[in-house]
Parts: sequence; structure tokens; C-alpha cells
Amino acid sequence: MCDPGKLLKNNQQWSQEKLLNDPNFFEHLSTLNSPEYFWIGCSDSRVPANEIIGLESGRVFVHRNVANQVHHTDLNCLSAAQYAVDVLKVKHIIITGHYDCGGVRAAMEGQHHGIVDNWIRSIRDTYVLHHEELDAVDESERMNRLCELNVIRQVDNICHTRIVQNAWERGAPLSVHGWIYSLKDGLLHDLDVTKSAPSDVAPLYRVTTSEKSAWPIAS
Ligand code: CO
Repeated sequence: MCDPGKLLKNNQQWSQEKLLNDPNFFEHLSTLNSPEYFWIGCSDSRVPANEIIGLESGRVFVHRNVANQVHHTDLNCLSAAQYAVDVLKVKHIIITGHYDCGGVRAAMEGQHHGIVDNWIRSIRDTYVLHHEELDAVDESERMNRLCELNVIRQVDNICHTRIVQNAWERGAPLSVHGWIYSLKDGLLHDLDVTKSAPSDVAPLYRVTTSEKSAWPIAS
């Protein structure tokens, strides 16, 4: 039965267990804010970031939204990204999607879902970009592949930001990874689309603070 009061009791128990294991746990945690990872994942309750990668509090900075989107107009995601890269100086950004994602499924359906239609519009664009590949397979495979392609697109999107490219330009070690999680077996899979340098970004999307222009744009 739903009972928010139970959550507060759970919290008290959790706090006590942490202190039993380490009396200085919270004192130590309050002085520690240097995670090496920035996780961008789906809001789906079945994909809890810290838990599935086995990291304790303080080890991963997390941003989650419906269908793990990185939109260049989303101040929420971009603010989190800038803080992660410029202040926390994370070394890895991990975009993590998951198979059977409700946001991706909604994007594949030709129905109105309300305001979220605006949010998932770019997933429909991804479908259109890859429609030949996607139309050639059955519905289940199509759904899974679009979940993967959505992650790959968000890896590109964050690499197209000045946040990531400025970090590369000043020589910061920063890699952007694309992973996907299976709800069926609890395993993460690396989509092997890691980007670690401006040369990993299509020329049109390269930004630079130097005088050297990114033009011509041919790749
Ligand atoms: Co999802």
C-alpha cells in the first residue's frame, strides 16, 4: 500500500545502517563532492542510476528525464551538464537509455500523448532519419533499435554543446559514452559510440574559441 510515512521510516533505517557500518559516513560524504561520472538517464523507476552501476552516494552526478534526452534548449539538462563538466570536472558522461522505454514507444505511436509529444518529437526525427533500417525489421526489434539510436543521438547532442567542446579544447580528459540497459536481465551494454575529442564530432557541429574556423564543413 502506498504510504509516504513508510518512506520516512525507511530513510531512518537506512541512515542508521550507514552509521552502523561507518560512524563517519555522513560527515565524510558532506565534504566529498567530486564524482567522476555524469549520468544522463531515463526517469523510468526501473533504471536507478546508482544502484545498477553499484556506486555509493557521492560517486555519480545524475540527471534524468523522459527518454534520456539532451536537447540544446533544455536549460535543466545543460545546467547540470555545465556544472558536471566545469565545476565537478567529471571525466565521463554516460548517456544511458533502456530497452522498452515508454518515451521511445510513445514516439513510435501516431497518437496524441499530451505535452510529452513536444518532448519526444526529436525521437520521431531519429526514426525518420533511420526509417529504412527500422522499417525493415519487426516491431519488437524496431523498438529496441530505436532505443539504441536514441541514445546514440543524445551522445552526439551533448558532444555538440560548447560545454563538452570547451572542455576538450582546454585539454580536459572527458569522454562521452552511450549505454543501454536491459530491463530483462539488469545488464548494461556499451553501444561503442564513445567520443573523446573534437575530431569525433562532425565538422558542422564543431565549435572553437580559436581563430581557426571549422569551415569548410565537408567531413
Ligand atoms: Co524510458
